[in-house]
Amino acid sequence: MYVLGIDVGTGGTRALVIDQQGKVIAAATEEHAPFASPKIGWAEQDPQDWWRAAGIAVKKALTQGKLQPEDIACVGFSGQMHGAVMLDAEDQVVRPALIWCDVRTQKQCDELNAKIGAEKIIQLTCNPALTNFTLTKFMWVRENEPENWKRVRSVMLPKDYVRFRLTGERAIDMADASGTLMLDVAHRKWSDEILQAVQIDKSLLPKLYESPDVCGRISDAGAKATGLKAGTPVVAGAGDQAAGATGMGIVAAGSVSATIGTSGVVFAATDRPALDPKGRLHTFCHAVPGRWHVMGVTQSAGLSLRWFRDQLASCLQNGDGRDPYDKLTAEAAKVPSGSDGLLWTPYLMGERTPHLDANARGALVGLTASHTRGHIVRAILEGVAFSLRDSFTIFHEMKVPVKSIRLGGGGAKSPLWRQIQADVYGQAVECVEAEEGAAYGAAILAGVGAKMWPSVDAACQTVVRVALRVDAQPTSVKTLNRSYEEYRRVYPATKTIFGA
Ligand code: XUL
Repeated sequence: MYVLGIDVGTGGTRALVIDQQGKVIAAATEEHAPFASPKIGWAEQDPQDWWRAAGIAVKKALTQGKLQPEDIACVGFSGQMHGAVMLDAEDQVVRPALIWCDVRTQKQCDELNAKIGAEKIIQLTCNPALTNFTLTKFMWVRENEPENWKRVRSVMLPKDYVRFRLTGERAIDMADASGTLMLDVAHRKWSDEILQAVQIDKSLLPKLYESPDVCGRISDAGAKATGLKAGTPVVAGAGDQAAGATGMGIVAAGSVSATIGTSGVVFAATDRPALDPKGRLHTFCHAVPGRWHVMGVTQSAGLSLRWFRDQLASCLQNGDGRDPYDKLTAEAAKVPSGSDGLLWTPYLMGERTPHLDANARGALVGLTASHTRGHIVRAILEGVAFSLRDSFTIFHEMKVPVKSIRLGGGGAKSPLWRQIQADVYGQAVECVEAEEGAAYGAAILAGVGAKMWPSVDAACQTVVRVALRVDAQPTSVKTLNRSYEEYRRVYPATKTIFGA
């Protein structure tokens, strides 16, 4: 018996099949068209492109694994969070979706704060009004495109649109719903107060489920488009962060992950909705029924290194077959911890945690003629880890326990970045065997729905295995503690320059 996870990402949709031991049987990805950015700060995608990609990715995975449609016992979903999908009375897409990184809605956030009150919003939803969150995107369409809004008869999030096409059901899980600013996260239900205050009709919203709950079955049309069997059950699944954490076994309070992809996320599972009164962290429902999580987001984590490679080290892409990232990190490995006083703040796209400041800017501070390219690369790797450490600092203030840290994304693949993270966090870090991202978590949730495992905890105990552990080196920890204190002084010292 196998289960399938479908992750509707930003760059592409990935389909991944696992067995009862958690072994990956097949995996395939189909890319999406790049998101459109018709104005600065705008980001839009066509939901129909996600559905197209899902059909191709699932068919490819079935072929690759030599699987028959009836081999798949259940399907789970994960996806990019926060995106606003709007459908009309005929279930046609009204306009392209405004996705998670679209930040055009500051005016709508200000309106929400003026109307409901910034503190009250945190009280009702556990989170502040941020441009990334879905409600602000609906408000933008209502204000700026009233003709489009008039046609809207139902709304949903990206992965839920793919589920809708596959099954005909309008459903959402608690974890993804948490990023809409319309969920009463503490009580796991839509917030009537918020919906009334902004006059959004509750009947527009999908039905809420816990992540491993079965919420529909594949329709004949869905079966035809994907090669799956009509009648196969599907579970609710989760937003990509909660699903990714599930895939790394971050399900019980005390377990924490630090994932460095384009952005960086520090994610802690909690057994209560732990609140940061300043709203610097997101407090969302977890993919595990009755549990929550907090997470801090660094906008430009892996992006910092990619930016440096592309803009200032493109000469390394000289076709000699060696990965330019490996060349850069080899140079950085020769530089001592602390980068001889060089500091990097990674605010290339403003910053969410801890500053909540779209005008924050990146800075390379402390340059001398003695510094080399290796120093700059090491300062970038350290600066990104410092930025993630800011989330740990807030966890500490909020008494969120951190018993173990698991690394994910590109930051887990580089031995140097793994060591730097252990030394900056001052604690051992672990990497798991199947570092497969959110699609793996979605497949685990499908397996729980199919009763392959009795609970998400039991599933993680069976399938998630630690592959390696990196201990913190005491002398580096000391040096980097000092550097972190200096790093913390860079943002306040530079912010007035950038009009923040
Ligand atoms: C989470 C977030 C991103 C998206 C992108 O708050 O904005 O992780 O889910 O995939």
